[in-house]
Amino acid sequence: MTRPEAIEWKNDCLRLLDQRKLPLDVSFLDCRCAEDVAVAIETLAVRGAPAIGIAAAYGVVLDATTKRDAIAAIDRLSLTRPTAVNLFHALARMRAIVAGLPDVPLRDRLLAEAHAIRSADIAANETMGFFGQSLLPQNSTVYTHCNAGALATGGFGTALGVMRAAVRAGKTIRVFADETRPLLQGSRLTAWELLEDGIDVTVVCEGMAAAVFSRERVDAVLVGADRIAANGDAANKIGTYTLALVARHFDVPFYVVAPWTTVDMKCPGGRSIPIEERNPDEIRECFGAKILSRDFPVWNPAFDVTPADCITAIVTERGVARPPFFASLSAFDDMINP
Ligand code: MRU
Repeated sequence: MTRPEAIEWKNDCLRLLDQRKLPLDVSFLDCRCAEDVAVAIETLAVRGAPAIGIAAAYGVVLDATTKRDAIAAIDRLSLTRPTAVNLFHALARMRAIVAGLPDVPLRDRLLAEAHAIRSADIAANETMGFFGQSLLPQNSTVYTHCNAGALATGGFGTALGVMRAAVRAGKTIRVFADETRPLLQGSRLTAWELLEDGIDVTVVCEGMAAAVFSRERVDAVLVGADRIAANGDAANKIGTYTLALVARHFDVPFYVVAPWTTVDMKCPGGRSIPIEERNPDEIRECFGAKILSRDFPVWNPAFDVTPADCITAIVTERGVARPPFFASLSAFDDMINP
């Protein structure tokens, strides 16, 4: 079976593969207005930093009857999730189109831009895959957290794109995917994607990372990111920082794989990255079963920030950035924006 597209523009509506229901139920959600897309992003029917930006761009198209409606859609969509800078990057591109000269009908221009955002992301993923796979030995065991795959992007994936590119290059890849509490993006989504591709994947609980590293030769940790600050600090799914500390203890290279749309050069360091806090019920409940009472104190940040000094390299489509990251990321920034 070929894996269905996570995001598809079809018959003037945005069709999303409903990631809340995977892997047990492969079903789709048709969004017909920006509000539908906003709710899909908030409830994680579509998730992953690049995918959120792409879905939001199509969400603007859905409401773009007039300039005023398009701006209202952009404003609403920008309130959905605060951490992934890809969302704001995509919406800034859509805002610029709204402000542009009306030589072609607004909706057509916005749709062309949404398609362009998606195509650029897929191309970036392929290039990152090419750069990233060169960091892996011929027979590799890698460890990943959350889902940074085709489901989280326009297609192919960032961290999972590196694994796919390594397989294409004739390398043998074995993957440990941790389950990723509380919403199990690792065991539900990453395991599903890799299995569909025939890549050898073993699921572990995230608390098992030290046990895995002490028993197995792990060649690399590969993770995605939601926002990378100019100094290299990287926000990603909660638990990434703990994983980076374990990797450092065992001297395992820790690679962050992310498109340039995830890099926020205006953000000087991790402390400036806004971290989304989600509904505590996501932790109070497990598969619909109540584990803790409604008023039980719970903290539920969706992301943490891995400090730059725990990161071996950041793989982008502009190249592989090495420490000191402010210098290497600034050089990539200057390459395109002199
Ligand atoms: O809350 P989520 O599922 O949207 O979190 C996703 C992640 O943390 C991913 O690792 C990140 O967005 C990179 S996706 C290429």
